[in-house]
Amino acid sequence: MVQTNEDSLGALYHPLHGEQLENPYPFYARARREEPIFFSPDLGTWVVTRYDDILTILNQPDVFSSKDALRPVVRFSPAVFAELSKGYPIVSNVVDSDGKEHTRFRNAVGKAFVPKRIKQLEPFIKEVMTSLVDGFIHDHKAELISQLAYPLPLEVALFLIGVPKEDMASTKKLSDHTSMLFNSPLPEEQQVECARDFVRFQHYFIQLVNKRRSAPGEDLISDLLETPAGERPFDDTQFANLLISMVIAGHETTTQLIGNGLALLLGHPERWQTLCAHPERIPQAIEEILRYDSPVHAFFRTTTREVTVGGIKFPPETLLMVVFGSANRDETQFPQADQFDMQRSPNRHLAFGYGIHFCVGAFLARKQGQIALETLCQRLPNLRLAPQQRLSHSPVLRQRGFKHLDVVW
Ligand code: HEM
Repeated sequence: MVQTNEDSLGALYHPLHGEQLENPYPFYARARREEPIFFSPDLGTWVVTRYDDILTILNQPDVFSSKDALRPVVRFSPAVFAELSKGYPIVSNVVDSDGKEHTRFRNAVGKAFVPKRIKQLEPFIKEVMTSLVDGFIHDHKAELISQLAYPLPLEVALFLIGVPKEDMASTKKLSDHTSMLFNSPLPEEQQVECARDFVRFQHYFIQLVNKRRSAPGEDLISDLLETPAGERPFDDTQFANLLISMVIAGHETTTQLIGNGLALLLGHPERWQTLCAHPERIPQAIEEILRYDSPVHAFFRTTTREVTVGGIKFPPETLLMVVFGSANRDETQFPQADQFDMQRSPNRHLAFGYGIHFCVGAFLARKQGQIALETLCQRLPNLRLAPQQRLSHSPVLRQRGFKHLDVVW
């Protein structure tokens, strides 16, 4: 058994509360210096904070399994389980599978994300962006999370999967409730309602898959229906899980990229002005946003055998949380890591992970971030943070983003 000690930093680790929720970086800097891998009794996991240790873990997927990557952070009551039992069972998908199973999923979803297909999506991304900005441009104020950063990637993810326009509004609600169910601590009654919508979402997708069987299109569902020689087709349970996980993976992560980015840029108006004057610098600025305030802050791995990391020996079945957000501020990798430098180069951040589970949607996420910032620079170059607002973060363990972002122009 690994020994933990009472003076460990783990007892001081409260990432979902107070100061650490708003700004966890000083705590991680201390951890990287004093105790780079510590046990968190609150979370029941080891926490890994140094870039090199995280890379070591991500580079050995056979020793560090992804099977618990999506472990729920919220505890479900029996009433919630009763609702969930009416749907398809929750089974592993691309994010939380290993070995051959992962390769099969990854190859199947990969086709929808090749740069050529994402380029074809560009006009749709621009169209959604334009209509969102049209919706508030005459108001001279907006709340950019709910009015822009949240709806844009959700529509894009649903479109990529193959959800028709006429179903967008109803599926958005199902998606909202699904994400709330797995990410937010809710009163039981609301949890049950969200679980009901999660099951409806599963059934909706299976109906859509059946439609595509007879009339395939240029979308992710149609890609997934093409079974390579020697492979078994996906069954309904796998389809339901895979499609919902694609919405979740692609949605709020990108919301947070856009929201965190806007807060960093508008919080220092000279940064915003520079980008508006030099929009060709936006892609590089997006890399720094991803590094400096990483939307996907952490993920889990589980050891498959005894292994030593950072001088600590772990038995099999040990849960480790790799904190991308901390790795991305590691001074050994990034000179002046706590400085936001829009022209940082090289910038080998781990915001999209590393190795075989590297984010399949990275190119799409970057493209959406770029189109969002370019459009705002063009149409609202005078954008400013609304005065006297206190920005606060949503208490979500794996991700990091603001609840609201009020702006004026
Ligand atoms: C800024 C936005 C995004 C960020 C920061 C992000 C981050 C990540 C990270 C860190 C991982 C690795 C997880 C691990 O190692 O266990 C990952 C995997 C993944 N991401 Fe993203 N992601 C973003 C956007 C997207 C989008 C737009 C999609 C698709 C629509 C997507 C789909 C996926 C999928 C399917 C995986 C699993 C890949 C695998 O396990 O092989 N992501 N993402």
